[in-house]
Amino acid sequence: MEGSREQVTSNDALRIDDLPVRDELRGKSPYGAPQLDVPVQLNTNENPYPLPEPLVARIAERVAEAARGLNRYPDRDAVELRTELAAYLTRTGKHRVGVENVWAANGSNEVLQQLLQTFGGPGRTAIGFEPSYSMHALIARGTGTGWISGPRNEDFTIDVAAAAQAIAENTPDVVFITSPNNPTGTAVEADTVLALYEAAQAAKPSMVVVDEAYVEFSHRDSLLPLLEGRPNLVVSRTMSKAFGAAGLRLGYLAAHPAVVDAVQLVRLPYHLSAVTQATALAALEHTDTLLGYVEQLKVERDRLVTELRALGCEVTESDANFVQFGRFADTHGAWQRILDRGVLVRDNGVPGWLRVTAGTPEENDAFLDAVRELMKEQKR
Ligand SMILES: Cc1ncc(COP(=O)(O)O)c(C=O)c1O
Repeated sequence: MEGSREQVTSNDALRIDDLPVRDELRGKSPYGAPQLDVPVQLNTNENPYPLPEPLVARIAERVAEAARGLNRYPDRDAVELRTELAAYLTRTGKHRVGVENVWAANGSNEVLQQLLQTFGGPGRTAIGFEPSYSMHALIARGTGTGWISGPRNEDFTIDVAAAAQAIAENTPDVVFITSPNNPTGTAVEADTVLALYEAAQAAKPSMVVVDEAYVEFSHRDSLLPLLEGRPNLVVSRTMSKAFGAAGLRLGYLAAHPAVVDAVQLVRLPYHLSAVTQATALAALEHTDTLLGYVEQLKVERDRLVTELRALGCEVTESDANFVQFGRFADTHGAWQRILDRGVLVRDNGVPGWLRVTAGTPEENDAFLDAVRELMKEQKR
């Protein structure tokens, strides 16, 4: 426009560290698995089955209904959704859960962030037993919570005595227990959780968060019944894996009602959009079909374990929708050789080990063919 001066933003070489960012963020890079466009993508523990068409149609219906009210803010407390999530947990978790015990957010990552904003924060610490889900440490950093890396056994199980000692020595405010664990696939015994809960209450009351993102794929029952009489225990869950809805961003927790009240001190108002709530409610109407896919994936997961062992790989027992396999002298080289054959798996930075997500039978066959070739090369 004549006479008007356009403000031009310069995108010249300016990096994160040139900005006045918080000290703990300096020199860090954002979380993210490579999103490469290859034929077989088995690197982010997604469910390979698209939502069934009747569910897609139901989502369209419920979202259309929600759209008519988008001029208003959504139900801030997501009561209908939390009621249905509670019913799902009660039906599948062998433990009665009411709406007052459930809280939901945009993915379980947001649930975990809200927990650390509430119970962690500056001057406080959280512990996890590593290798485990790397976002626990990253969310700790983002919320100003100090991070303590606790020990694990060589076979990736938790050494109860060593873990209890780490809790006693460090007196963390939040203890993370991931079961089944990512990236190893190992499940945690109820007795271990009980022992660590006791250890976490010994010096001062601390919160224990059991991350059950993959529990629907487990050979074992959920740890939900442990909530009884333990107000400082939280179980977090997600619709990203078993419900095949990673794109929906819906995670939730079950805990004592006081915990549900506490996280509301930090949640942003109206954090869960009306579209998200409508979509999640539609998915919950189709729980039985979606859990049918989980059963198929469990069979495929067990097949991957058996066939990888037959190919000469070491494999960690898995209760999740993925399998950790190895061991490779050159881990990144092995990852690359598999990728060269069109299959993307995950190098989680555990020396010697890679992780593959259970896909469709065809995807798993392509992956096993790639590993067969890799193992032949390694023998040469
Ligand atoms: C152990 C564990 N917890 C939580 C999550 C986060 O899932 P979401 O934020 O999609 O619910 C993941 C995702 O991979 C995970 O592996």
